[in-house]
Amino acid sequence: MNVMQAIEDRRSIRVYQDAPVSREQLTAFLEAIRLAPSWKDMQCWQVIVLSEREQIMRLGELLNYNPRREGVFENVPYFIAVAADPSQSGDEQGKPNYMTDVGICLENACLAATEMGLGTCWIGLFDEKAVKEFLGVPDNYRLVALTPLGVPAQAPKPRPRKALADFVHLNRWGNPME
Ligand SMILES: Cc1cc2nc3c(=O)[nH]c(=O)nc-3n(C[C@H](O)[C@H](O)[C@H](O)COP(=O)(O)O)c2cc1C
Repeated sequence: MNVMQAIEDRRSIRVYQDAPVSREQLTAFLEAIRLAPSWKDMQCWQVIVLSEREQIMRLGELLNYNPRREGVFENVPYFIAVAADPSQSGDEQGKPNYMTDVGICLENACLAATEMGLGTCWIGLFDEKAVKEFLGVPDNYRLVALTPLGVPAQAPKPRPRKALADFVHLNRWGNPME
């Protein structure tokens, strides 16, 4: 599978099979994080791999909102949490690049997962304080995103996207690209 195909095929997967992810697949997922670009190559991220069923279900209880009802915590063999130290990335003109760094590294990994036939689902809506405490994340880190990693038990249709004409400008804002 090439990168463009993985981009096209990736979906947010919220239901998982009771099926394993191999150690090689987990390592490949983490490698895709490791190789990501980052502000001044400072690689501000830290990754927590949750591998115990009971721990994953307890995390699910902390995220007592929509995705849980859809089953995102059931069955899935791994849950991944990505934290970042903002002081290890740039904050130029009010643009905190640690968010960008984590966005890139985790999306790299989500695409690698797609290529391996595995599912992920970005989760950005959670009680950061409660989940940090649960995972023992140090105070100076922000917990940016979570995702399950497992074998999909659903094949959602593509969600709608804007047309290119809705966001591409040629040379100057407002000039459409024909
Ligand atoms: C930064 C970010 C945070 C997200 N947070 C959540 C979330 O908390 N819960 C959830 O169910 N989906 C979450 N999503 C998934 C989006 O809802 C999903 O990517 C979008 O609806 C498009 O669907 P697709 O991923 O299947 O293409 C998040 C996605 C991103 C990029």
